[in-house]
Amino acid sequence: MKFRGLYLSEIKSDNFDKTQCMDSLSNPYTPNAGAEPQAVVGRDDQLKQFVMLLARLARRCTEQSMIITGLRGVGKTVLLHQFRGKALAQDWAVVEMEVQKHDEAAFRRVISARLRTALHELSPKAQWTDAFKHAVSVLKSFTLSVDPEGQWTAGLDVEPAEGFADHGDLSMDLTDLLVAVGAAAQDKGRGVVLLVDEVQFLESYQFEALIAALHKTIQRKLPITMVGAGLPQVAELAGDAKSYAERLFKFPEIGYLDEDDARLAFSEPAADEEVTFEAAALDLALEITGCYPYFIQELGYAIWESASTSPVTADDVREAWPLYEGKLDSSFFRVRLDRATALQQAYLRAMAELGPDAQRVADVAGVMGRTSQNIAPTRKALIDTGLLYAPKHGYAAFTVPHFDQFMRRTIPELKVPAPRR
Ligand SMILES: Nc1ncnc2c1ncn2[C@@H]1O[C@H](COP(=O)(O)OP(=O)(O)OP(=O)(O)O)[C@@H](O)[C@H]1O
Ligand SMILES: [Mg+2]
Repeated sequence: MKFRGLYLSEIKSDNFDKTQCMDSLSNPYTPNAGAEPQAVVGRDDQLKQFVMLLARLARRCTEQSMIITGLRGVGKTVLLHQFRGKALAQDWAVVEMEVQKHDEAAFRRVISARLRTALHELSPKAQWTDAFKHAVSVLKSFTLSVDPEGQWTAGLDVEPAEGFADHGDLSMDLTDLLVAVGAAAQDKGRGVVLLVDEVQFLESYQFEALIAALHKTIQRKLPITMVGAGLPQVAELAGDAKSYAERLFKFPEIGYLDEDDARLAFSEPAADEEVTFEAAALDLALEITGCYPYFIQELGYAIWESASTSPVTADDVREAWPLYEGKLDSSFFRVRLDRATALQQAYLRAMAELGPDAQRVADVAGVMGRTSQNIAPTRKALIDTGLLYAPKHGYAAFTVPHFDQFMRRTIPELKVPAPRR
């Protein structure tokens, strides 16, 4: 049995059993938000599409960009990191942004700070061509309306570009900015990709401004694009710009892995540590996790903590199961439930009664013994706080996989608070 703990002598006590190959130090699973798993599996299609997108833009061909959608924990952030690697390998400049609820001033500041870095990355200041100098001036104009003192653009050493990005309208200004940055990148034979995570937090006017700007850069055939990731409701976000959004972006949905990939997600990291899984152990692990990436990492981690020797058996998986479930219940699921009022919890529990899928308001109302009208505000509040989303009109679904199972575990019996008089 291989002994791998490099610094184990400092961590483990003297009576540490060296025949045990599965120690905490070598646990290869990654149950953390955005943590790159040792084996990124099942995302070849999206990776191919991304590489094709950059290659086509580089050839001045137009191509639909994409916004990856999926529930919490399916691997959207990890996929964006993979995109980053592919873009850097093609010598593109990468601008990464995680959207937070920002007002317009903060939104302008974040975009301009990131694009400023991208411009510096594309070319050292000493080698700026006219297109670069113009892009930097436009950048300065872009921030001027919200930063008249020029604090955010300190050190850029240029005058604002009069007539560019100074309209006081976010869509027009962002269009000028992305066009100018795209043209500068093209001048250097390079490209710029904005990788935007948590797109669902964009205000619709911000999303619409991005759409308007990208619409123009595509018309001009410039090597600049945006690829996003967000919860499934993002496809609804574009508001008035919806038809443009649908033409500009594909919205590929990622979710659970197929069974072969899920087996690899368990077995590959373990194989690196010379640990194997028996077939029955993998079957059970797939059943417990539903092949969801985050759950795979969490169960893999728990198995590693509780088992000690290779090969991992179905009994080992059974033993780790309560550890896994306890971890999910006390963190991943619990933080969500704690945000809900008693009536909202009852709504979620009633939904769980009906199953894991999207449910009609009328059906949930039926289970709760209320009318649809009566519970509509509760449903809306749950959507606003991100616990539910509306995949289609009149329906609501959980934003987290297996939430129905958790609700039934944690609230065994549905109790609906009496209506207020
Ligand atoms: N392709 C994959 N194969 C195996 N594990 C993966 C894969 N993608 C992601 N994971 C694991 O799944 C977990 C969730 O990944 P990530 O944080 O990227 O999800 P997310 O969709 O961005 O979630 P959220 O919506 O909460 O931000 C992490 O523990 C990560 O290691
Ligand atoms: Mg994420």
